Amino acid sequence: MTYNFDEIVPRRNTASVKWDLFEEGTLPLWVADMDFKASPAILEALRKRLDHGVFGYELVPQSYYDAISNWFDRRHGWKGITREQLIPTTGVIPAYSACIKAMARTGDNVIVQTPVYNAFFPAIRNNGCRELCNTLVYKDNTYTIDWEDLEKKAADPKTTVMLVCNPHNPAGRVWTREELERFGRICQKNGVFIISDEIHCELTYPGHDYTPWATLPEELVRNSATCFSPTKSFNIAGIQIANIFAADPDVLRRIDRAINDNECCDVNVFGCTALEAAYDKSEEWLDALRTYLYENAQTVYRFLREELPQVTALPLEGTYLMWLDCRAARHADEPFEGFSERFADHLRKEAGLVLSTGTIYGADAEGFERLNIACPRATLTAALGRLKDGFESY
Ligand SMILES: Cc1ncc(COP(=O)(O)O)c(C=O)c1O
Repeated sequence: MTYNFDEIVPRRNTASVKWDLFEEGTLPLWVADMDFKASPAILEALRKRLDHGVFGYELVPQSYYDAISNWFDRRHGWKGITREQLIPTTGVIPAYSACIKAMARTGDNVIVQTPVYNAFFPAIRNNGCRELCNTLVYKDNTYTIDWEDLEKKAADPKTTVMLVCNPHNPAGRVWTREELERFGRICQKNGVFIISDEIHCELTYPGHDYTPWATLPEELVRNSATCFSPTKSFNIAGIQIANIFAADPDVLRRIDRAINDNECCDVNVFGCTALEAAYDKSEEWLDALRTYLYENAQTVYRFLREELPQVTALPLEGTYLMWLDCRAARHADEPFEGFSERFADHLRKEAGLVLSTGTIYGADAEGFERLNIACPRATLTAALGRLKDGFESY
């Protein structure tokens, strides 16, 4: 079957966060959802569920757990996930928030690797904790880990949790098994619990395979919880469904307690239906999507190389979120501080392009902006033209 990712689906005036938050006429390539329709199998399953016509409270069926277990076994070599090891919930944000609440005390440090997904920060702070940044090292057009700094921060007696983003938004890195295992060993040695956010796990590109945290050595898995969902990769984020996995029953019980404290333990009827249709019936669609996104990334590299070499896009190993080094746009007499915000504002107001301001992902991201390439190629090409116009008129 072929899928038409070139189709432009109008999203203005559909109450879309991405399209309706900014002025008419702007091209929004910011928040992380895609401008593609969901797979035919998901649409069909949702229609069927809708036609039933009754939407009362629902049990999460065994077929839901089977869909997860089969998918991760078949696709990622993560074997033997059972119903007893999972807690379904409404989103990955509530999922990792509950994990922090369960595993950290008020006043504790939670390690994050900045620049990182901006909604990590409120979840840490709202749980009375403090983020401790193991800032990623930007060198030779990529990000690596400052191991010495991680060792130091994990050894701080106030540090009890590390929140890992794998694959990493916005750095675009897909952590290798060796890197993950090294995080795991450092944290285990220091009594630091790992929460792994794997929402972007399906979206990886040639040469970069996703390693589920739960496939690391057993002792590291027992010291962790994984939060995952098909919503990002199958473009059903508005349907809101996610899962928490923990191999240690005591850990899962604590997380279950925390999630029930917040009373967000029920999922909606469409969430279960969509998840099953994604994992059971949309594999071919997902692979076609990955190819399309990979080509979109090549379109960005080509454009920048030929038309705007002053801006660099970091190599995209995973996710559909490209990290752009825009530091060359800054005027010689312009303060460095605040540049990302001023440049993003200028792009929006003067060139009609909405990107995510780099510094929302951490203060060290000054000079960067984030570009969402999950849109039809014609939209992306128009957006790149606007980026060039905005760069030149800044
Ligand atoms: C790393 C990461 N975690 C979580 C989320 C949001 O998850 P949810 O919408 O399921 O709460 C996002 C959305 O972009 C994300 O990038």
